[in-house]
Amino acid sequence: MKRIYQRHFLLNFLFLTIFIAIALPLTGCSSVPHRRIVRIGHNQSTNHPTHIALTAFQNYINEHLGDRYIVEVYPSELLGSQTDMVQLTQTGAIDYCIASNAILETFSKNYEIFNLPYLFASADSYHHAMDDPQITTPIFTATQKAGFTAVTWLDAGTRNFYTVNKPVKSPADLKGLKIRVQQSPTNIEMMRLLGGSATPMGFGDVYTALQSNIIDGAENNEMALTDNGHGDVCKYYSYDMHQMVPDILIANNAFIQSLSDEELAIFEEGYRRINQIQREEWVKAVDAARKKAAEQQKVQFLYPDQAPFVEACAPLHRSVLQNNPHIQPIYDAIQEYNALYPTITE
Ligand code: GCU
Repeated sequence: MKRIYQRHFLLNFLFLTIFIAIALPLTGCSSVPHRRIVRIGHNQSTNHPTHIALTAFQNYINEHLGDRYIVEVYPSELLGSQTDMVQLTQTGAIDYCIASNAILETFSKNYEIFNLPYLFASADSYHHAMDDPQITTPIFTATQKAGFTAVTWLDAGTRNFYTVNKPVKSPADLKGLKIRVQQSPTNIEMMRLLGGSATPMGFGDVYTALQSNIIDGAENNEMALTDNGHGDVCKYYSYDMHQMVPDILIANNAFIQSLSDEELAIFEEGYRRINQIQREEWVKAVDAARKKAAEQQKVQFLYPDQAPFVEACAPLHRSVLQNNPHIQPIYDAIQEYNALYPTITE
């Protein structure tokens, strides 16, 4: 089974690489042969704050370096799942992609830290920590040898459990439920500690898995209910607020190194804008998603006591820090932000 899966994965990857090498250069650029195409892949829809921010980046680069570069943004898993896209970015088949921090921990263990449940005491603490280069630089540069570097982060809100027909009011309610998690060992362990049965799979497969009862629920931010239609199937969304997992924009190293100092400065300003625009759009998008889920999809929002969830997940902090002592100083710096911004302000 594992071998068939690996073969399937390799064929998939090979197909995408060949498609990108042969087919994409033929699209849309024949009249401007001297401009370098810069490809960015992501897995969200074109309505999503991520796509809006990347489109602003595309326009910004066009405005300032349009004689040399054309940015092309590929949404909706057009270039494959996030794992596929990270591998394409590693090899330089594409130049950038957005990956959830969750899946990056398989490329560098340093990323485990942002996957820890209940790491941040509040959204303010999360935002301040993610904006602090002393916290992010050791993580964002940890994949140099793997061929890519993180250049900025994007908000992906707070992750909460949602289920087809059983409201989750405490960890005990997760017992016996198959819950989709992202493909990361930390997430699988989190689910084990909370008592549910972890079912890792790519984001694009979740809707069908929910609809065909392969899984009983999933965990994600509110946008998954509306933008990905999960709220058409799942009627209970419980604010246990177990994680704030950022999305990360990663870049192929060879591409970044090929930029002149002047070009690099423009691209870096572009990353700053992606972060800023995405975060502004995020606030509006989450408000709209909550409203739509409640009014149109008839999703019921629940507010369980978080304490038993926090307690069940505590051993994961200890085991991750024990297995990777390098991240202890980063963890400690995050605790300082937690002390400054202790209230959940979601
Ligand atoms: C969020 C996140 C994505 C991620 C998805 C998932 O939507 O923004 O980057 O892929 O969750 O659960 O897989």
